[in-house]
Amino acid sequence: MTSPRKLTPQEEARLAQVRQNFQERRRVTESLEGIGTRIGVYSGKGGVGKTTVATNLAVILAAQENDVALFDCDIDCPNVTRVLRITEGPVQNGKKLIPPSRFGVKVMSMSFFQENEDEAIVWRGPMIHNAINQFLQTTEWGDPDYMIVDLPPGTSDAPLTVMQTLNLDGFVIVTTPQELAVLDAKRSINMIKKMNLKVFGVVENLSGGVFGTGGGQALAEEMELPFLGTTEMRAVYTNSKRPAALESDEVAAEYAAIAERLKAQIAVEKAD
Ligand SMILES: Nc1ncnc2c1ncn2[C@@H]1O[C@H](COP(=O)(O)OP(=O)(O)OP(=O)(O)O)[C@@H](O)[C@H]1O
Ligand SMILES: [Mg+2]
Repeated sequence: MTSPRKLTPQEEARLAQVRQNFQERRRVTESLEGIGTRIGVYSGKGGVGKTTVATNLAVILAAQENDVALFDCDIDCPNVTRVLRITEGPVQNGKKLIPPSRFGVKVMSMSFFQENEDEAIVWRGPMIHNAINQFLQTTEWGDPDYMIVDLPPGTSDAPLTVMQTLNLDGFVIVTTPQELAVLDAKRSINMIKKMNLKVFGVVENLSGGVFGTGGGQALAEEMELPFLGTTEMRAVYTNSKRPAALESDEVAAEYAAIAERLKAQIAVEKAD
């Protein structure tokens, strides 16, 4: 019987790398295990209200006694913390980070690790993948019922990497009523479908007034997706220090209706 050959330093290094990757993947899986449903809020077009919808949806779900996490994955331009006016970052507990909580929502954001708000962060796919993996491994999320993920706009490397790394359960697509935004939203839906991921439904934001209304509903019908609801354009979004859904009964009612339809659709998808 021949005794096992001693590994070369290269082979040792390769083996160590494989072990490390495996452990990393296991830690990510473990960290995600306790999370009920991971929901991406997305649209290919910038400025349509992804961050607004993600934060208001999160605070409404939290107000309904759900345990909710909000993960700001807009790595280039993280602004959830600005919208929620969070000034304190996560607290370190051994190797883990405890996310700060605001309006009952646990929040994690790349902006916690920026030196200053104006700093531009230019990330490439593998870096985004690594950063998100780090977040997932080190954050003590607890067992939230929902994790809402605010995605960056576009159909480039950044949102794609986030989608793949987080293995999201489904998406809420945000559009505005205008034709061009709807066209972009359609592209986003097709991209998600191509990746074999699910779309929970469509929200029409900035509805009413000069933008008109109905684009979101028409898009949902065309793409055979649930229409989750509309949220009108209102001054309370810009005038208020708190998320609009906590300031205005009308906005709260809009988001409660969206949350109900979303929960119903999640139940349908999970039953499949
Ligand atoms: N329903 C609304 N009524 C009035 N203002 C709104 C509404 N929704 C969003 N806004 C405002 O529009 C701006 C863009 O919204 P938001 O940042 O949520 O868009 P976004 O899609 O996340 O943008 P980005 O693509 O840059 O991430 C913000 O100033 C926000 O306050
Ligand atoms: Mg945003």
